[in-house]
Amino acid sequence: MRNIVLIGFMGTGKTAIGRRLAGKLRREFMDTDAAIEELTGKSISEIFRRDGAIRFRSEEKLQVQRLADKSNMVISTGGGLVLDQENVTALRKNGVLICLTADPEVIYNRVKNKNNRPLLQKGSIKESVYRLMQEREENYNTAEFTVDTGKGSLSETVDKIMVYLRENNYI
Ligand code: S3P
Repeated sequence: MRNIVLIGFMGTGKTAIGRRLAGKLRREFMDTDAAIEELTGKSISEIFRRDGAIRFRSEEKLQVQRLADKSNMVISTGGGLVLDQENVTALRKNGVLICLTADPEVIYNRVKNKNNRPLLQKGSIKESVYRLMQEREENYNTAEFTVDTGKGSLSETVDKIMVYLRENNYI
């Protein structure tokens, strides 16, 4: 069975929803950020601070390559992973891309008190959320199905994804 790959902006709930989805489907779950932290022994913030964004993006790419032969997994991706078209192509080969989204205001409220997202640590968080979301719109539109996680509970969102997957014979 194809992997189920969750893409989308920071704070849209990819990790929480991915984990729940994997539990329901009894599939292995993988979160690219967590895998990078495990492999490098550093937090995402530390990688950005000490090694820089380019190094982080190459760690992400490495994770995508490691996933190339895998199937039957649920994968949550970091919000910027789909900025690299090669990553998208590789994930799509054996996976279905589902985008999680939410209004920028909802995202802002979810992320404003957290300090684990280096790209939101400089300047105004609100401005960064609005700007990055707009800049990345096309990248997220590459998914074949999009769910707004600002409307409804976590289980309702998971159910919407399940319905889509079932209707399209992915599960
Ligand atoms: C990033 C999103 C983060 C993490 C890193 C960069 C981005 O993941 O990969 O801070 O570029 O959008 P989440 O989407 O899980 O917050």
